[in-house]
Amino acid sequence: MADITTQQLSGQGLQPPGQALRQPFVADIKAIRERARQHMDDGAVTAGYGKDQAQAHAVLNSALATELVCVLRYKRHSFMAAGIYAEPIAQEFAQHAAEEQAHADLIARRIVQLGGAPDFSPEGLSSRSHADYVEGNNLKEMIQENLVAERIAIDTYREMVRWFGDDDPTTKRILEGILAQEEEHADELSDLLQKNQL
Ligand SMILES: [Fe+2]
Ligand SMILES: [Fe+2]
Repeated sequence: MADITTQQLSGQGLQPPGQALRQPFVADIKAIRERARQHMDDGAVTAGYGKDQAQAHAVLNSALATELVCVLRYKRHSFMAAGIYAEPIAQEFAQHAAEEQAHADLIARRIVQLGGAPDFSPEGLSSRSHADYVEGNNLKEMIQENLVAERIAIDTYREMVRWFGDDDPTTKRILEGILAQEEEHADELSDLLQKNQL
């Protein structure tokens, strides 16, 4: 008696849990090869790209604006931090500024790979950003403002990871890496607040 194939089972809605993992990888290689030769100007963006490109560029440009605002805020704070606890905290701010800059670079590079243009215009930068640029009057306020911004970034990156999902696994993976670092930043800031009892 012939085995019941996975395809038959799933076609009948009878697929047992975990069975999807055992399904063979099937792709129409001939069609993929033909498509790859067309639209070569599109670079990494193939016909199988699962998102609306303009929407993907807009979502990533808002993340880019957020990172650039975070660079500026951390830079300002690293120079303005003053007081007996200031030196290690200023160093932490400077390190975060450099890491936010690296995030901005990753996002800008990905926008270009997806056929878009990264928006670095200072005009309207803070309105494109998810997080605010708040200067803070003292060390405690600076740390608090940075923590708020990190928490906003964490939530928005989590949403973006969900939105890109399987439609664009590369962008999803890039954003997951950034998200993990924003979580570290938030953790470090909350430690600073507690340890220094500011
Ligand atoms: Fe960042
Ligand atoms: Fe961050």
